[in-house]
Amino acid sequence: MCYILALETSCDDTAASVVKNGKILTNIVSSQKIHQKFGGVVPELASRQHQKNLVYVVEAALKDAHVDKKQLNALAFTSGPGLIGSLLVAVSFAKGLSLSLDIPLIEVDHLHAHVMANFIDEPKPDFPFLCLLVSGGHTQILKVISPLEYEILGSTIDDAAGEAFDKAAKVLDLPYPGGPVIDKLAQNGNPERFSFPWPKIQKYNYSFSGLKTSFLYFIRDELKKDSNFLKNNLEDLCASYQHTIAGYLLSKVVEAARNEGIKNIALAGGVAANSALRKQLMEMAQKHQWSVFYPKMEYCMDNAAMIAITAWYKYQMGEFSHHRTRAYARKN
Ligand code: KG4
Ligand code: ZN
Repeated sequence: MCYILALETSCDDTAASVVKNGKILTNIVSSQKIHQKFGGVVPELASRQHQKNLVYVVEAALKDAHVDKKQLNALAFTSGPGLIGSLLVAVSFAKGLSLSLDIPLIEVDHLHAHVMANFIDEPKPDFPFLCLLVSGGHTQILKVISPLEYEILGSTIDDAAGEAFDKAAKVLDLPYPGGPVIDKLAQNGNPERFSFPWPKIQKYNYSFSGLKTSFLYFIRDELKKDSNFLKNNLEDLCASYQHTIAGYLLSKVVEAARNEGIKNIALAGGVAANSALRKQLMEMAQKHQWSVFYPKMEYCMDNAAMIAITAWYKYQMGEFSHHRTRAYARKN
């Protein structure tokens, strides 16, 4: 029997999860509300909140799983990428607890974990598969070869897809995080009403800063003609904007799938919750005969269950970390 406790504090969610032989027993997430009034995550506040919350979140995860800490076989944590001050909270906690319990440490890369969220429930993707990882901090297409091996085929060269949603929400005077709010308003809007140009970037890379700017300029120009433009067109604006982002994201997946000869396609990350992205993906899956996978909503957003499941695969391969291991804000 193998019990692993996993911790995640890379951004603004304090999370802990217990996994038993690859089965998630608990997934506790405490989301920090304090950042809302600033319209984005304030790193210094985030790390202090993690320090306040982590012990309670861990206790809840163990209690709900009916697992005593003495039963644990390993301790997993996110080592990066993320906010360095936030990451350090879980890294230090995990090191201390693993020393006191005399059990091994398993470090997990946050992006790898988002991809591996597809292995929490059935059906699990067959290898190789392509994963479109879209979150508030990252936008990548990965070719996943095995549970622990992947290749990054393309990445954003500036903003992430989630940021494109969050920044547009700011322009529309909507609360943070903007993605879910835009998605909700889009439900009653016309996705074909307005069109925004797809940025032209080579290969499987993305760019979102131009799209956000063209959205901003379009609204600024329309507001000059009609001061009620935003109020009267909010739902259509949201629907059209997310339709554009979803189409743009998937256009590169189609290209990668064709060139790599891969028909298993997975989604991951917070933006994977987007309804337009899921709808367009299903349409493409039918057209190209793809098998499509995406994690349950709670495993798309930042959580520790995805750290736990990745750690379970690393545990089976004997991939443990030294106590000298360090957190990293970004790769390289
Ligand atoms: O994966 P995640 O929870 O955190 C990061 O690792 O960044 O992703 C958060 C991002 C935010 O930018 C949020 O606006 C976006 O995911 N998001 C969505 C939706 N739900 C969350 N974007 C579009 N549509 C959604 N339904
Ligand atoms: Zn994330």
